[in-house]
Amino acid sequence: MKNIAILISGGGSNMKSIIKRSQKAQWLKRYQTQIGLVLSNDPLASGIDWAKGQGLSTAIVDHKNFLQEENPRRAFEDALIHTLEPLAPDLIVLAGFMRILSPHFVSRYTNKLMNIHPSLLPAFTGLHTHQRAIDAGVKFAGASVHWVSDVVDAGQIIDQAVVPILPGDTASGLASRVLTQEHLLYPRAIENWLKTQAT
Ligand code: GAR
Repeated sequence: MKNIAILISGGGSNMKSIIKRSQKAQWLKRYQTQIGLVLSNDPLASGIDWAKGQGLSTAIVDHKNFLQEENPRRAFEDALIHTLEPLAPDLIVLAGFMRILSPHFVSRYTNKLMNIHPSLLPAFTGLHTHQRAIDAGVKFAGASVHWVSDVVDAGQIIDQAVVPILPGDTASGLASRVLTQEHLLYPRAIENWLKTQAT
């Protein structure tokens, strides 16, 4: 049995699209793979309630609980590792997970950490990608699924979706059209990875 953990920070629409695909395409039967855990760093993330409603295991590791520690990021990541450990995840999927992960965490899960980023990487790493793409005058935006490396948004690209930028586009309009594509792109990328793992 393979285990996937999905890490979110908010509404988790990408997480929902992945879980729906896992059910529809019968990942359990076809690939002996289950979504073993949905974890949020934000206790208010509404995606957690949705995942619970699907009967999935969920966990909260609130990064704010570690702010008083000498090394808050390290303490938070140790708590994440501690929570993930019993699952022995084969794949950790970052789906709108809005915390930067340091090499301490990333090196522990080499080739097991996938992320989706709302731009055509390597362009527009970081935040506010849609407004920056509009301001730059580029004609195409999109989303990228990539392996996570020590450098933020710079790991090997797995797959991308392209979304045209329309005249007069706003960041929110573009974001919602990109998100629609993300919901197709991310489950597909994971399923393609599962196919490569099948024995
Ligand atoms: C998505 O657009 C995702 O690409 C982006 O946050 C949104 C989360 O939506 N991720 C990042 O910006 C990561 N740096 P969701 O919570 O509805 O899946």
